[in-house]
Amino acid sequence: MNTSLETFILKSTPASIFDPNLDMETRIPLNNGTSIPALGLGTWQSAAGEVEKAVAHALKVGYKHVDGAYCYANEDEVGKGLKEAFDSGIKREDIFITSKLWCTYHTKVEEGLDKSLKSLGVDYLDLFLMHWPVPMNPNGNHDRFPTLPDGKRDLDHSTTHVETWKRMEKLLSTGKVKAIGVANYSKPYLEELLAKANVIPAVNQIENHPYLPQQEIVDLCTDKGVHVTAYSPLGSTGSPLFEEEGVQKIAKKNGVEVGTVLLSWHGEWYEMRLK
Ligand SMILES: NC(=O)c1ccc[n+]([C@@H]2O[C@H](COP(=O)([O-])OP(=O)(O)OC[C@H]3O[C@@H](n4cnc5c(N)ncnc54)[C@H](OP(=O)(O)O)[C@@H]3O)[C@@H](O)[C@H]2O)c1
Repeated sequence: MNTSLETFILKSTPASIFDPNLDMETRIPLNNGTSIPALGLGTWQSAAGEVEKAVAHALKVGYKHVDGAYCYANEDEVGKGLKEAFDSGIKREDIFITSKLWCTYHTKVEEGLDKSLKSLGVDYLDLFLMHWPVPMNPNGNHDRFPTLPDGKRDLDHSTTHVETWKRMEKLLSTGKVKAIGVANYSKPYLEELLAKANVIPAVNQIENHPYLPQQEIVDLCTDKGVHVTAYSPLGSTGSPLFEEEGVQKIAKKNGVEVGTVLLSWHGEWYEMRLK
C-alpha cells in the first residue's frame, strides 16, 4: 500500500464525497471575463461511431463542456454529436467547446483552427489551446506525426512556442475563438511564454491526479491567473489509481465507487488552490 498517497488523498477528499463542490452547472471564471464549466467530456481515444453518440448523450443529460482536439482525429464525429444535440434544442451558447492546435500547425494557426471549426460544425470555439509547446514539421511525411528517416519525430526548429503563441493571440480579433490557452506547459515553458505574451493564457490544461499533482506549475498558474484544467483526472487508460489500496479503502469506508473518490479529490484540490 502506498501510505503517503492514502494520507495525501485523505487530507483533501472526504468532505466532497457526499457534498460535491463541482457539478455540471459549476462555472469557473477565466481571466478574459468568460467562464469555463468545471467538468467536461473528454473525447481522446473515443472511437468513430461511439464518440458521436457519447457527445450527443452527454449534452442531453447535462454536460456543458466538450474537450476535443484536431490530433484526436475524430472531430468530424464529435461535430455530428454536437449537431444532434443542437438539433434537439440545446443552444450553442450554453455549451463550452474546447479544441487544440496540433503541433504540425504551429506556423499556420488559423488554418488549424479552421479545420477544427469545420469538422465540429461551429463558427467559434470557446477555448483554443496550444496542444503542446512543440512545433513539428508542417510539411513532413505525416499530417499529425511526421518522422525523420531515422524514425525520430520531425520537429520544426524554425519557430518557437512563443512565436506560436503570438500567432494565436491574433486569432482573438477574428471572433473565431473566445479564449486562448495552452496545454502541457511546465514552469519553464510558461515563464518563457509569459515574459513575451501580450495575452495571458486563460487555461493551462495539464495531466493532474493524485499520482501527478504537478504542484510547481499549478502554483505558478494560480499566481498568474491561469486556470488549470486537469486532464486524465482518473489517471488515464488502465489507471493503476483504481487499484491503489489506499484509494479503495477510502471508497469502501465511505460506501462509494473508487471513481467518486478520485473525482472528489479534484474538487477539494480546487478549493485548496483558491485558499
Ligand atoms: N491536453 C492533452 O494533452 C490531453 C491529454 C490526455 C487527455 N486529455 C483530455 O482529457 C480527457 C480524459 O483523459 P483520459 O481519457 O486520458 O483519462 P481519464 O479520464 O483519467 O481516464 C479514463 C479512463 O478511466 C476509466 N474510467 C472512467 N471512469 C471509471 C470508473 N468509474 N471506474 C473505473 N474506470 C473508469 C476509463 O475506462 P473505460 O474506457 O474502460 O471506460 C478510461 O480508461 C481526454 O479525453 C482528453 O479530452 C488531454
